[in-house]
Amino acid sequence: MLDFEHYAKTRCDRLEDFLEQCLPQPAAHPRSARLYEALRYTVLGGGKRLRPLLVYAAGESMGVSLDKLDAPAAAIELIHCYSLIHDDLPAMDDDALRRGKASCHKAFDEATAILAGDALQSLAFEILSDPQRNPVTPTQQIAMVQILAKNSGMHGMVEGQILDMGYQAHHQNLAYADLCEIHLKKTGCLIEASILCGMLNTQRILNEDELLQLKNYARCLGICFQIQDDILDAIGDEKTLRKKAGRDQEKNKATFPATLGLEEANKQLAELYTQAIDHLAWMGFEADLLKQLSKAFIRPFDTSLIATTLQS
Ligand code: IPE
Ligand code: IPE
Ligand code: MG
Ligand code: MG
Ligand code: MG
Repeated sequence: MLDFEHYAKTRCDRLEDFLEQCLPQPAAHPRSARLYEALRYTVLGGGKRLRPLLVYAAGESMGVSLDKLDAPAAAIELIHCYSLIHDDLPAMDDDALRRGKASCHKAFDEATAILAGDALQSLAFEILSDPQRNPVTPTQQIAMVQILAKNSGMHGMVEGQILDMGYQAHHQNLAYADLCEIHLKKTGCLIEASILCGMLNTQRILNEDELLQLKNYARCLGICFQIQDDILDAIGDEKTLRKKAGRDQEKNKATFPATLGLEEANKQLAELYTQAIDHLAWMGFEADLLKQLSKAFIRPFDTSLIATTLQS
């Protein structure tokens, strides 16, 4: 049986080295050092690295070699980091703490944070389209660029963020389907991109049904991850989360707990998690790594914990 903790540690270290190589040293560019400091501050040494781990796990479980997975793993993490910088800005969630330290706009300033987000987004596509850093065929490079552009852009993560903002303070009668759509787009799309980019170089071509199963796995996992994030925001604490808790309620966000209540949100989390894993059934033993990863990242809460929080 694979030691998942060891697996995750080695892949995260590998990603860190790769990212380190992609980010310029501030001292080498004195006039724009502030930007490079902000990039390194945001990207290096932080985060759970769920999305890169999904790229590695998806690819490796289908026999893709590691050197073909570094670029998509890094590119998706960079897009994620940019989304977090912008998500924390005063114009959006206005959060001062991220990954256990001051948010980018607090550690630097708003203009630097906006530009750092912009730069991370371009860098992601620069890496994917660079034959040295992304040693796959040109066709595969274009496919990765397209997957990431679509899933992060105006019909993907960015659309999810505008829906999130639009439903803020208007979620009392929000339909379940709308709630799922927001979560699917703002969080599920990058998770889907991670699986699709990881699986792009498999030795055997996946058929349409297999591809659909994979997408459905990723989509269920993405919604689960956001529901869990929302429940943790409601019941967790700053020390464990390494970001402020209770912010969704303060900002009147359209979350599963706010719309359905904590107990029902947790039930949905457990159901969607089971559905996610069911979508891997066709892979047989090759799904083990993705299953372990899913289990390490998603844990429906103990109902008694939810009940205690509700009473307190
Ligand atoms: C936070 O994502 C934003 C959501 C989409 C819920 P993560 O929980 O993956 O953040 P890091 O990367 O570990 O900081
Ligand atoms: C963020 O969701 C989703 C994206 C950044 C795309 P949240 O706003 O819930 O993430 P946190 O709680 O600030 O990490
Ligand atoms: Mg947000
Ligand atoms: Mg936020
Ligand atoms: Mg949140």
